[in-house]
Amino acid sequence: LWTAANIIDDAAARVRAQVGSDKVLLGLSGGVDSSVVAALLKRAIGDQLVCVFVDTGLLRWKEGDQVMATMAEHMGVNVIRVNAAERYFAALAGVQDPEAKRKIIGRLFVEIFEEESAKLTDVKWLAQGTIYPDVIESAGSKTGKAHVIKSHHNVGGLPEHMKLGLVEPLRELFKDEVRRLGVELGLPREMVYRHPFPGPGLGVRVLGEVKAEYVELLQRADDIFIRELRAHGLYDKTSQAFAVFLPVKSVGVVGDARAYEWVIALRAVETIDFMTAHWAHLPYEFLGAVSTRIINELHGVSRVVYDISGKPPATIEWE
Ligand code: XMP
Repeated sequence: LWTAANIIDDAAARVRAQVGSDKVLLGLSGGVDSSVVAALLKRAIGDQLVCVFVDTGLLRWKEGDQVMATMAEHMGVNVIRVNAAERYFAALAGVQDPEAKRKIIGRLFVEIFEEESAKLTDVKWLAQGTIYPDVIESAGSKTGKAHVIKSHHNVGGLPEHMKLGLVEPLRELFKDEVRRLGVELGLPREMVYRHPFPGPGLGVRVLGEVKAEYVELLQRADDIFIRELRAHGLYDKTSQAFAVFLPVKSVGVVGDARAYEWVIALRAVETIDFMTAHWAHLPYEFLGAVSTRIINELHGVSRVVYDISGKPPATIEWE
């Protein structure tokens, strides 16, 4: 019988049989899959689990703190947080090209994760949040079938020299099943049913060069948009919604003075499979209220626009 509780018991027993009393390392990203693996492994092997969470500085507003609050404080998971924002900003300085940014962000993640794992000498296993669609997708790419438009970065696999065995307890599960496990394991519903977030994070939502100042404006605009969507019962009606920072200045009037400030774009889509998407027909009054809040609350932003492009031809992300 498929119930989340049965699947969890079964997966936990299998993990215990696989790893015995060895320590297991897991990279936490803040996303659903790695969070569910963490909660599951915590249940299965308790403190034999060690998580490394690389805070890239490119996550949503205060997301790093939220990951720690949920996983470490609430669930009691052993998490090592690495505050790497400055390293990311330094590595991204002067870089404009989206694919170049993706590569830098992906490479730096592997580097930092390796550095941290090298400090953990007694770890024997690496856990990953691989789910069934990932298995299918990578099988496709090996036969050359995957159509790569963007080099999607996720945890790329284990560092060769570490010689760790793999633990992948979600390998046979679909996303909706993983979510049900998450809720059963006690993760907050809000986290488990979050919109997808790209691996390179806000690195591809600040168009062109990524700067700390831009990221903070973007995070705060995005936070206002998402909170308002939730408050109006619109969050679950959209498949993905977010703000984008446009590095262009436009003229506005702030108070009595003429201002020359940044532009924020809002994007919200409805989709089944993320391969094609429609822009979400959010109510005008709602969009107006979000725009007013962003402009009033964020110094440096005087214009907000709404993206009304479908996919294709526009991708969901702007980069
Ligand atoms: P696009 O922009 O290609 O996005 O229409 C489709 C879905 O994929 C996500 N996305 C990414 N996810 N690494 C990821 O892990 C990436 O580089 C990346 N680029 C796009 C996007 O957020 C959307 O859900």
